[in-house]
Amino acid sequence: MTAIQRATVEDARDLSIAHIASWQKGYRGLYSDELLDNLSVDESIPRWEKRLRSDDTTFLTRRNRQVAGFITVRAAPAEDTGELYLLYVNPDFWRQGVGRRLSNFSCNWFMEQGYKRAIVWVNHLNKPGMEFYEACGWEPDSGRQTSEIYGIKVPEVRYSRML
Ligand SMILES: CC(C)(COP(=O)(O)OP(=O)(O)OC[C@H]1O[C@@H](n2cnc3c(N)ncnc32)[C@H](O)[C@@H]1OP(=O)(O)O)[C@@H](O)C(=O)NCCC(=O)NCCS
Repeated sequence: MTAIQRATVEDARDLSIAHIASWQKGYRGLYSDELLDNLSVDESIPRWEKRLRSDDTTFLTRRNRQVAGFITVRAAPAEDTGELYLLYVNPDFWRQGVGRRLSNFSCNWFMEQGYKRAIVWVNHLNKPGMEFYEACGWEPDSGRQTSEIYGIKVPEVRYSRML
């Protein structure tokens, strides 16, 4: 596994591949099979290129040249708060500590940026995701929001931690 490094626009394809593989395995049952089976790397690449050129910051780690996992971090609307916007691990590397490394890395990065608190939003039905965050030291708080993902309204619960 490589060190966690800042992603660039050249990583858009490999990030798309890992992102879609993680969605298709991790979100089976949360979203329809039709949606998951039709996710397309070619359609995802321009979205990733745009994200990689934006103010959001993405870090990744590779194994055997594949993206093993990645995070996207950014400022949250609340003062002194950083948001872990995306955290995905390629299913080929689940339960090997990659997600925990990425979660820890995000908290160190938030501290370096001077944030006092970190948050992450999780689909309210993503039980494994919630258990993962709790295992990594995040705690559910009272935050609730509804996001629109591929046109579907998704209730989300907020996890947070003081830094
Ligand atoms: C959730 C996810 C990020 C975990 O990544 P991972 O690299 O497998 O996690 P780790 O190996 O670092 O696990 C750390 C701890 O989290 C917990 N955990 C991890 N996956 C879990 C699961 N599927 N169910 C319950 N607990 C889990 C365990 O306590 C684990 O420690 P252990 O393996 O010693 O028991 C990964 O399964 C994933 O990408 N899922 C799809 C996307 C997603 O749900 N992202 C998070 C919400 S946005």
